[in-house]
Amino acid sequence: MPHDIGAQSHWHEPGANQKAGYGKFGRPASRYDLFMQSEGIPIFRDLGVSNVRNLPLQPWKRLGGKGSYIQLWGTEGKWGNYVVEVPGAGALNVEKHMFEKICFVVEGRGTTEVWLEGDKKRHIFEWQKGSLFSIPLNAYHRIVNATSSPALILCGTTGPNVMNALNSVDAVFNNAYQFRDRFSGADDFYKPNEDIEPDPVRGLAMRRTNLIPDIVNCELPLDNRRSPGYRRIEPYMTENTFYLWIAQHENGRYSKAHAHTSAAVLLCLTGKGYTYTWPEHLGPTPWKDGKGDEVRRLDYEPGGIVTAAPGGNRWYHQHFGVSKEPFRLTAWFGPHAPGREAGVPGEKHTDVGAIDLPDGGTAIPYWMEDPFLRQEYANTLKREGAENRMEEKFYEPGTKYSFAD
Ligand SMILES: [Fe+2]
Repeated sequence: MPHDIGAQSHWHEPGANQKAGYGKFGRPASRYDLFMQSEGIPIFRDLGVSNVRNLPLQPWKRLGGKGSYIQLWGTEGKWGNYVVEVPGAGALNVEKHMFEKICFVVEGRGTTEVWLEGDKKRHIFEWQKGSLFSIPLNAYHRIVNATSSPALILCGTTGPNVMNALNSVDAVFNNAYQFRDRFSGADDFYKPNEDIEPDPVRGLAMRRTNLIPDIVNCELPLDNRRSPGYRRIEPYMTENTFYLWIAQHENGRYSKAHAHTSAAVLLCLTGKGYTYTWPEHLGPTPWKDGKGDEVRRLDYEPGGIVTAAPGGNRWYHQHFGVSKEPFRLTAWFGPHAPGREAGVPGEKHTDVGAIDLPDGGTAIPYWMEDPFLRQEYANTLKREGAENRMEEKFYEPGTKYSFAD
């Protein structure tokens, strides 16, 4: 028995009818949690927020601007998130880190410089409101504001993954390894690539590009997996493991619900709307079954974010755009890409989120969903003066119909 580590740590063997340990205990802070706390800026933990522009920011000594960490429920340890304000006519401090980072420009216009130690020149590219770019792993970078107003950037990282695994802050920020395989130094490294290819796992539309100048208005190819006329692309950026996609529902049409474990956070890009999310064990019709009070809801506008599965385990989630315009969103997952869950390589796997419940997936077809949803959507669109384009045939019992003509 250890007798040299203080009274609080004194361990007693349980009696014959007792189990070892406390049984109930406070969840410990991870290395990344402790790191966030040490940075002196707020840490926002919730289901989501209607607009990240409304988050309170505090001066961020390490980065040089103001910021707030964001860790929506269910994403803990799965990926990192923060907003940072770049001062008007200023720049953030130079940094490099052993985690991947994608950046979405919520507000502002400016440039980013990227380089590796020993490089003769810095790569410089421009960004504006709506731009999405990625910083190659452990590359030096500097984010510069081109205007006199502050710029606001939302970043997604693999910070928690790497920091918790290495259990060292210094190894993350002070590491000499150069990932030349992720940052070639080619002149066209940050030239947007618009070519579309099938992603190697699920065969969905993918773009290999390290910068997209405007994800709010860029072209999206037809996908049809979530709603009739649904469009979608997944950007593959700087050889990242960080998974994300950009998608759009047609105006007046809402997403089918589906269930999976936590990681996904949705960011509203155009339109306004709301998301419902509920534990899978409540089933596809929670309101009808008297469990509506266990369903969580978040309303948002462009700049709003919501976590898809706040409880960690499989949760259904369903998104409703209620504007006259299409509802565009981007979803960020960190390295937890659907289709890449643990399992034997080569084993048969299915895109369960895109397959309806009767066919073995987790998607709730419109005809099986809670009638409350359709009614509420119709009422909301009427109130908003927006056209309802959900067709009667989407709701025919047993129909396999799930896409537009
Ligand atoms: Fe999902």
